[in-house]
Amino acid sequence: MRHMLNPLDFSVEEIDRLLSLASDIEHNLPKYAHVCDGKKLATLFYEPSTRTRLSFESAMLSLGGSVLGFSSADSSSAAKGESVADTIRAISCYADIAAMRHPKEGSALVASQHSSIPVINAGDGGHQHPTQTLTDLMTIRSLTGRLGNMTIGLCGDLKFGRTVHSLINAMVRYPDIRFVLIAPDELRIPSYIREDVLKAKNIRFREVNHLDDAMPELDILYMTRVQRERFFNEDDYIRLKDCYILDKKKMKLAKETMYVLHPLPRVNEISIEVDNDPRAAYFRQVQYGVYVRMALIMTLLEVEKPC
Ligand code: CP
Repeated sequence: MRHMLNPLDFSVEEIDRLLSLASDIEHNLPKYAHVCDGKKLATLFYEPSTRTRLSFESAMLSLGGSVLGFSSADSSSAAKGESVADTIRAISCYADIAAMRHPKEGSALVASQHSSIPVINAGDGGHQHPTQTLTDLMTIRSLTGRLGNMTIGLCGDLKFGRTVHSLINAMVRYPDIRFVLIAPDELRIPSYIREDVLKAKNIRFREVNHLDDAMPELDILYMTRVQRERFFNEDDYIRLKDCYILDKKKMKLAKETMYVLHPLPRVNEISIEVDNDPRAAYFRQVQYGVYVRMALIMTLLEVEKPC
């Protein structure tokens, strides 16, 4: 039995197969309508979510399976003090696979250690968000036709942004990847990513404070939200929340072939005037998230690809 806790749980070859399956699903959706008949997905969400929870549910329903779960800790027995370990033991009796989001780093790992069904990490605190990464990889590959030889700008909250940490971990396995890390000093990338991933693997990167300077060289601009829920101090959040706002003027500095991604939700960091720019790919990214989660559910449940 396999879990998906970290994007590195799958080799590059396995990710390639998974993305190819997701692409086949995209183009042949009806073919997959019954491959998970009789299977159940549990969504255990201790933190708010729109896209991740509903795209998992949409994915399982599109495969012919069923879904059950909770959408907040308050509506589960976590409110009575139940541990993640005990919860997943119970859920293993009800479902065939579980997707879990939790505010604490490492909680999905704990769940996997006590589970008799595959566990998918749907976000654990500021740590990892592997299915967002699979979504990002599919989006980049579908839009540009490649996953190597590119400069990726990561902008915003690089300190707490689990989508950024997961994406860096995943992208450094492809050839000739360069990063521009655009953040205020307070929200710089954590040292364990800078030292243990980027420097350790000799990846070309630079850290800057200003988005304008970076725009012309980027193939992908990955915008992120400054996350109010990760701050201990409201004043710090207010001071930093609008530090980057992507607007039409900044888009003029970018290549015609650059794409803007964002895991969403956005608050102010991308002006709505950018939404109609053909390079704005963040809502296409949401759609890719369903196909890639369908492929992941099939892979972890070891469901055969239909003819
Ligand atoms: N991208 C993402 O994780 O969105 P949600 O928080 O809405 O699930």
